[in-house]
Amino acid sequence: MAIRNTGLAAAALIALTACGSNDEAASSDSPEPAVIGERQDNFEQIGDAFRVIRGELENDAPDMAVISANAEIINANAMKIEGHFPAGTGMDDGFDSEALATIWERSEEFAAAHERLVSASEAFLATANAGDSAAVAEGVPELGAACKNCHDTFRLDDE
Ligand code: HEC
Repeated sequence: MAIRNTGLAAAALIALTACGSNDEAASSDSPEPAVIGERQDNFEQIGDAFRVIRGELENDAPDMAVISANAEIINANAMKIEGHFPAGTGMDDGFDSEALATIWERSEEFAAAHERLVSASEAFLATANAGDSAAVAEGVPELGAACKNCHDTFRLDDE
């Protein structure tokens, strides 16, 4: 047990160190464009809403109103992503961002990954509004796959 804990603490330390050095490397002379914070907040809300839904589904009687409201947030925020990535706002431009240069190098693929999230979140919302929690639970992996599909190629993997 003691060895296991030490291992975890060491892993946490390495993660912290990695974050710190990344921040230092990512200092830019130009001020950070506001859109970076906006898109990060937007994704943060998507992540929080998805977490609330999965938590709710673990209850014996999931509150479908809570699930629908959060599915609505994911869908509404998904539609905002398109305007959130002007060129020159990635991590390679020196900003505190996990947005990889591939977003602009492979812009059609990025647009397709975005489109996939929009349609997956639309379908998920429709399922949520239909009120069948079992069907919603079955839809979770599909929605999660739309996140992963984009993150795998376009977001820095800092784990
Ligand atoms: C079209 C691509 C794309 C899709 C789809 C996508 N993401 Fe992301 N996500 C990104 C990128 C790029 C970043 C990094 C943004 C930055 O740091 O500037 C990010 C960052 C995040 C963050 C961190 C935000 C922060 O605080 O910096 C969370 C949380 C997140 N995404 C959750 C999700 C979830 C949950 C889904 C699916 C429901 C999802 N994302 C779908 C591209 C995507």
